[in-house]
Amino acid sequence: MAEPPGVIDLDGADDPRVAEYSRLTDAALRRRTDAAHGIYLAESSAVVRRALAAGHHPRSFFLAHRYLDSMADVFAAHPSVPVYTGTDEVLEAITGFHLHRGALAAMDRPAPLSPDEVLAGARRVAVLENVSDHTNLGAIFRSAAGLGVDAILVSPEAADPLYRRSIRVSMGTVFSIPWARVGEADGRGRAAWPAALEQLRAEGFTVAALELSESAVELDDPALRDHERLALVLGAEGPGVTSAALAACDLHVKIPMAPGVDSLNVAAASAVAFWELRARA
Ligand SMILES: C[S@@+](CC[C@H](N)C(=O)[O-])C[C@H]1O[C@@H](n2cnc3c(N)ncnc32)[C@H](O)[C@@H]1O
Repeated sequence: MAEPPGVIDLDGADDPRVAEYSRLTDAALRRRTDAAHGIYLAESSAVVRRALAAGHHPRSFFLAHRYLDSMADVFAAHPSVPVYTGTDEVLEAITGFHLHRGALAAMDRPAPLSPDEVLAGARRVAVLENVSDHTNLGAIFRSAAGLGVDAILVSPEAADPLYRRSIRVSMGTVFSIPWARVGEADGRGRAAWPAALEQLRAEGFTVAALELSESAVELDDPALRDHERLALVLGAEGPGVTSAALAACDLHVKIPMAPGVDSLNVAAASAVAFWELRARA
């Protein structure tokens, strides 16, 4: 098959045209602020396709020679977008890891949604307080998308849903489930978290913390199913939901644990709770 237009064969690791792809190890990426540069990186052919299906705009594609044919339809649909390719050795020297999941793409970050936009029509909302682990965050998005959660809010300290690892673990569901960051300090530096939870209550949500607190009701309490609009606040590994956020919630909900086990991983807890508290009618 003929190479699609715009294919550029890289022959060295220090090509400035692919600086966006250089040293993509998680440690290096954590030091880099892709959000500030207005880009995110989609990793794996399936995730690249989901990003494009969500209407996001590619800046460039980056993949080994052997994947070119399988993505030919994508390149044909974006004829003005450069396609960087090379041997496994050259690409690995650029990224810092072996590219075994097909294509990478550097994408323009979409304009952030407002809380109003993501909450419109939502009946089940997950609120991620300080969930800073990208794997947990991605897994929660995947569970939310699969188990009937309509929207996600992330607190100021929570990880970036458009970080490469979050996207990959979410299987691209970060592109389909509406989400917004809430509670960032205003122009005068006043913290707006957890006060941001007030907006949920004002819009008719019952705000419940998923937490093993003293006053928590059990997850299968039938009364929990009566809430037309329900927002579930999830906390970080270790600290859990902060005391300030717990105080700002209408109620607390727990998944009873077997003796000798303190708690579940937050992503596992989210899946159990999303299923049990799904909107049923
Ligand atoms: C690992 S837990 C936090 C640690 C926990 N506070 C502790 O005392 O060990 C992380 C988050 O997962 C959720 N979680 C985990 N297990 C839970 C359970 N059994 N019931 C309710 N929430 C749970 C909560 O949202 C919690 O904030």
